[in-house]
Amino acid sequence: MKFKTIPSHIAVIMDGNGRWAEAKGKKRTEGHRAGADAIDRLLDVALEYKIKNISLYAFSTENWKRPITEINAIFNLLIEFIDTRLDKIHAKGIRIHHSGNRSKLSKTVLQKIDSAMDVTKKNKKITANFCLNYGGQEEILSAFTRLQNARKTNQSPLDKTISPKEFEKYLYTHPLPPVDLLIRTAGEQRVSNFLLWQIAYAEFFFTNTLWPDFGREALEEALVFFDSRKRKFGGLT
Ligand code: FPP
Repeated sequence: MKFKTIPSHIAVIMDGNGRWAEAKGKKRTEGHRAGADAIDRLLDVALEYKIKNISLYAFSTENWKRPITEINAIFNLLIEFIDTRLDKIHAKGIRIHHSGNRSKLSKTVLQKIDSAMDVTKKNKKITANFCLNYGGQEEILSAFTRLQNARKTNQSPLDKTISPKEFEKYLYTHPLPPVDLLIRTAGEQRVSNFLLWQIAYAEFFFTNTLWPDFGREALEEALVFFDSRKRKFGGLT
């Protein structure tokens, strides 16, 4: 398909893995596994359309409330995803980025992510931003704390006005651009603490498609929607 404008940054709330599994009489974990395959498909179609940045809400700061078996299954899938797909991801020119608080993530998960980021750091086609132990409010508070700490270290005044540009350097997503298009699957219409700062002027696309069923058709539907929007960023034209 042809589009006038392609979003530079798409953020995805990948919802509906559990419902997909339940509808098929499978375990929830199978839904997450099918969800990991959907990430593969999304990245391939995104490469084709030259979408430069994709943020994926893989595990939120609130997801620790889930049963430990499900938490372990999601992180094991992430490890398996990196182990089995990193070579292909790298060959396709995809750069891996992590957004989120590192403190609660296991050593194994951190090692995998860090090495995936290191291997792919020079890739330019797409940045795939995996949001793990990520919460938008936590990100903003942590950015503020780190900014103040940097000011203390540099002996610059703590009460000096903070510009958005200066602040953004401390967000987990830095140096990704603002989100142009936020997609949420599975019929829910909530933001759920995802990229609160970065979605300030994003267009929102909600679809009933469950995340494991998401593919070319669903992404193209979202791109058609985005192409039809007139973005004014608070101005009149
Ligand atoms: C939401 O669906 C999904 C999640 C909280 C986890 C997302 C995880 C993946 C897509 C797989 C992880 C793999 C990698 C590579 C990071 P839900 O469980 O809330 O679905 P439901 O609302 O239907 O129960």
